Amino acid sequence: MKTAYLGDLEISRICVGCWSFGGGEGSYWGPQAQEDVDALVREALDLGVNFFDTAFGYNAGESERALGHALCGIRQRAVICDKTPIMTREQLEHAEDFIKAGLDRLETDYLDLLMIHWPTKDRELLIENLQALDGLRKKGMVKHLGVSNFGVETLNIARDLGIPLVADELAYNLITRAIEYEILPLCRERGIGVTAYMPLMQGLLTGKYRTPADIPDMRRRSVHFNAANNPQARHGGPGFETETMAVVAGLCALAEKCGTDAGTLAIAWLLHQPGVACAMVGCRNAAQVRQNAASAGYALSPDVLAELDALTADLKAKLPRCPDLFLTGEKARVW
Ligand SMILES: NC(=O)c1ccc[n+]([C@@H]2O[C@H](COP(=O)([O-])OP(=O)(O)OC[C@H]3O[C@@H](n4cnc5c(N)ncnc54)[C@H](OP(=O)(O)O)[C@@H]3O)[C@@H](O)[C@H]2O)c1
Repeated sequence: MKTAYLGDLEISRICVGCWSFGGGEGSYWGPQAQEDVDALVREALDLGVNFFDTAFGYNAGESERALGHALCGIRQRAVICDKTPIMTREQLEHAEDFIKAGLDRLETDYLDLLMIHWPTKDRELLIENLQALDGLRKKGMVKHLGVSNFGVETLNIARDLGIPLVADELAYNLITRAIEYEILPLCRERGIGVTAYMPLMQGLLTGKYRTPADIPDMRRRSVHFNAANNPQARHGGPGFETETMAVVAGLCALAEKCGTDAGTLAIAWLLHQPGVACAMVGCRNAAQVRQNAASAGYALSPDVLAELDALTADLKAKLPRCPDLFLTGEKARVW
C-alpha cells in the first residue's frame, strides 16, 4: 500500500471512512453489523490500510465505539482521525473532558489526528475552539491537528493563530472539483495535506446507479441533483442531473475501455491530484476494502487522466465554486 505524510504522520493513501460504522435501522447508511466492521478493519490493516476516519457525530458516537471495538488490542497499528463538532462556550470550559469522551468511545488514550468537523460562522467561537484543541495537542492527548471543510478564510484564521495544521478534509471527487479553484492550491502552498472525502460520491462513481431515480434520496441530496421532491435535499436548486449522469456514463465507458471498473478510475484519478494525501472511502465490508485498496496501485496513464479531466470539466464549470455539497450561497458552510 502506498503511503503519504500528514506532517510526520505516515498514512495509507486509502483511508477507511467510518461514517456507516455502528449504524442501526433508520441511520444514514442503514445497519452495519459489528462483525462486518471487525472483519473489514482487520482486512484493511492486513492490506496496509492503516488510516481510519470517524467523527463524534457519526451515528451519535456509535461509529467511534464500533471502530474502537474493532481495534481492541491492535490500536497501535492504526492511525485514527476523529472529528469534533464546534464546542459551545460552556463545553469549552471542559474541553478536555469533551474530547476525552471521544477517546473513551474509541477505547484509546490518544488521537493521531483531531479536526473540527465543520467551521462555525462565529469567528470568535471558531478561534476559541482552535485554541482549545491546540492546548490538547500541546498536552499530548492529540498528536496532530487538522481541520475539515475549511476554506481560505478559515485556513487563514488558523494560520494567523499559529496553529500547525497537517490536513484539511474536504469533499473532492471527479464530479466535485470546487476545491481546485482556491483551497487545494492554498493547501499545497502551506504543506497541508488534503484528505479527500466522498471519493465515490457515495457509490455513484462506481456506476451502480444509472439514473437519478435509482439513487436513494439520502445520496441524492447534493447540488448535483434536483432538490424538488427530495425531502432530504436542502440546497433548493434544480441541480445538473443530465450533466452528472453523462459523466457517470462516460466514466463507465472509459473504465470498460481500460479494462477496469469505474470506482477504480475514480479513486486513482483522485490520488493523482497533487496535494491529495489520501482518498477517504466509506466501506461496508471486507470485499469493498479489498477493491478500494487495490485502486491505490492502479497506474493511470496521462491520456486517461486527461480524458477524465475533460469528461468532468463542463460539470465543474456549472457547479458552485464552494465545495459545500449540500448548501449554497449565504448558507454554504465552507468559508
Ligand atoms: N468531513 C466531512 O464533513 C465528511 C463528509 C462526508 C464523508 N466524510 C468521510 O468520508 C468517508 C467517505 O465518504 P462517504 O462514505 O460519504 O462516500 P464514499 O466513500 O464516496 O462512498 C461510500 C459508499 O460507497 C459504496 N462503496 C464503497 N466501496 C465500494 C465498492 N468498491 N463498490 C461499490 N460500492 C462501494 C458503499 O455503500 P453501499 O455499499 O451501501 O452502496 C460505501 O458506503 C466517510 O465515511 C467519512 O469518513 C467526511
